Amino acid sequence: MRIVAIANQKGGVGKTTTAVNLGVALAEKKLRVLLIDLDPQANATSALGMQEVEGESIYEPLLGGTSLANKILPTRVDNLFIIPADLDLAGAEVEIARMPDHLTRLARTLSTFRSDETFDLVLFDCPPSLGILMTNALAAADEILTPIQCEYFALEGLVKIVRVVEQVRDSGANDQIEIGGIVMTMFDSRTNLSGQVVDEVRQHFGRRVYNTVIPRTVRLSEAPSFGKSILEYDPSGAGASAYRALAREFIRRHAPAAIARETEKTHLLESLDK
Ligand SMILES: Nc1ncnc2c1ncn2[C@@H]1O[C@H](COP(=O)(O)OP(=O)(O)OP(=O)(O)O)[C@@H](O)[C@H]1O
Ligand SMILES: [Mg+2]
Repeated sequence: MRIVAIANQKGGVGKTTTAVNLGVALAEKKLRVLLIDLDPQANATSALGMQEVEGESIYEPLLGGTSLANKILPTRVDNLFIIPADLDLAGAEVEIARMPDHLTRLARTLSTFRSDETFDLVLFDCPPSLGILMTNALAAADEILTPIQCEYFALEGLVKIVRVVEQVRDSGANDQIEIGGIVMTMFDSRTNLSGQVVDEVRQHFGRRVYNTVIPRTVRLSEAPSFGKSILEYDPSGAGASAYRALAREFIRRHAPAAIARETEKTHLLESLDK
């Protein structure tokens, strides 16, 4: 099982859009995916057409009140499961901060899942702040996947997130974490700026930048209000094909590593061709 934190302290860069649509696209490729909505705004929860329900979030497991397994819900999509977010999560920031092992609560909560094969992949949709929830996500994750918008200050934001990852490593909370990838989002082919930003980010971060670039499309911004992923809302459009390509690239970058169960590896590699 691989744990991937979709994180960027900057708001509105496409974290939730990527968590939801990459999650659905990977589930379509038969990976068993658990999406954990770590943002009290609950955008990933509603984008998948689920109601926010008080008490249904990772809040209780984080505080040690119940097991994580009790909070996992199926979604409409086969192979995709979710732990939704609720408003209680906003309070978790304060309550967890008081606890002695406050940086590693999420890592501990997930540790039982590491050893079994229930899921191939856990995705965290992180909130846009450097609070306790995001720090816990980084302490629990094998890698961070950072969406950044193709806009002027992209590089500055990335430098900050690199520093945060280094701090998590140096603090001893998680010395394994790595920057697994950078995904450029909201690419606008009508402007020169988008292309320049992609070139600049590639110059600095090289192969860590995914080849797949997510275009800016109206359909991608409409889909959440219908509670649908782009793969359901506009399956043959540019947004859906970009997220399917991102899923293929994600699998290619990881296979045949930890995410694939032995028996599924051949199958996974075959599915790349479709
Ligand atoms: N490729 C895209 N094309 C058009 N609109 C997009 C695209 N990606 C995201 N959006 C829209 O931009 C807004 C911000 O996206 P999203 O919610 O995914 O960002 P976020 O990083 O999760 O934000 P927050 O920091 O608030 O959690 C949303 O309204 C979303 O629908
Ligand atoms: Mg979000």
